[in-house]
Amino acid sequence: MRYGGVDGTLAVKGLDMHVEKGEFVAVVGPSGCGKSTLMKLVTGLHIPQGGVVMVAGEQVTKPVSIVGMAFQNPTMLPWRTTLDNVLLPLEIVEKHRHRLRAHKAEYVAQAEALLATVGLKGFGDKFPWQLSGGMQQRANLCRALIHQPELLMLDEPFGALDAFTREELWQVIRDLHAAQGVTIMLVTHDLREAVFLADRIFVMSARPGRVVAEHKITFQRPRDISLMYETAFNEKVHELRGEIAEARVTA
Ligand SMILES: Nc1ncnc2c1ncn2[C@@H]1O[C@H](COP(=O)(O)OP(=O)(O)OP(=O)(O)O)[C@@H](O)[C@H]1O
Ligand SMILES: [Mg+2]
Repeated sequence: MRYGGVDGTLAVKGLDMHVEKGEFVAVVGPSGCGKSTLMKLVTGLHIPQGGVVMVAGEQVTKPVSIVGMAFQNPTMLPWRTTLDNVLLPLEIVEKHRHRLRAHKAEYVAQAEALLATVGLKGFGDKFPWQLSGGMQQRANLCRALIHQPELLMLDEPFGALDAFTREELWQVIRDLHAAQGVTIMLVTHDLREAVFLADRIFVMSARPGRVVAEHKITFQRPRDISLMYETAFNEKVHELRGEIAEARVTA
C-alpha cells in the first residue's frame, strides 16, 4: 500500500498475516510503521495497489459491513448527541437499518447499556464536545460495538485513558471476546495491553511495514489483571520490547 501516487510513501509491503475466526490478535510496532494502514486495508477504507485482503472468505473491495471500528482519534459527529453517535452504525449497516425504526427503543436500551458498561451512564444526551477526551474514546468504543460486529478492529482505542480506566476497559473487551466469540484485531503501543488481551501478537518492522515476529500468548483464559504481576507475563513484555526496539532501527 502506497500513499500519494507512484512517488508517494510506501506504507506497507509484503505484509502477510492470517487471523482465525474468533481469534484475538494484537499488532505492535514502531510509530509510523503502517499499523493504522493495515487496519484501514482490512476494513476496506483503503484498497492496496498490490496483494489482496480477504475477510470472511471474500476479497475486500469496499468498506466491510461486518466490522466494528474504533480508531486512534475519536471521530464522533459534533452535531449528534453521544447516544445518537453510538447508534450511527445501525443507520449504515443494512441488516439493522430496516429494524431500527420499528425497534428504536430496543436499540436505545442496548446503546445505554453499552454506555453504562464503559462508565458513561447518563451521558447519552450530551454532545461529544461536552465530554472529556477519555470519555469520547469510551463512547467511540460503544459505537464500534452497537451492531454486534463479527470483526472488531481497534486502533489504539484506549490511548487517552488513565491507567485505571484502561484496565477496566481491557476487562470489558476481554469479557466481550469470551462471551460473543467476536474476532478482534487490536493495534497498540502498550505491550502489557497486548499480552494481557491477545492470543497472538504480530510485531511489525519499521516502514514499509511487514510482520517480523509472531508470538503465541498462551496464558490461560479468563485472565485476571493480577496476571500482569507475574514473572512470565513480564518476561513476554520484555521480549516484545526488545524486538520493537530492534525493528525501529532496522527497516
Ligand atoms: N493518508 C495518508 N497519506 C499519505 N501518507 C500517509 C497517509 N496515512 C499514513 N501515511 C504514511 O504511511 C506511513 C504509515 O502510517 P500509519 O498511520 O499506518 O502508521 P502507524 O503504524 O499507525 O503509526 P502510529 O503508531 O504513529 O499510529 C507513515 O509514514 C505515514 O506518514
Ligand atoms: Mg496509527
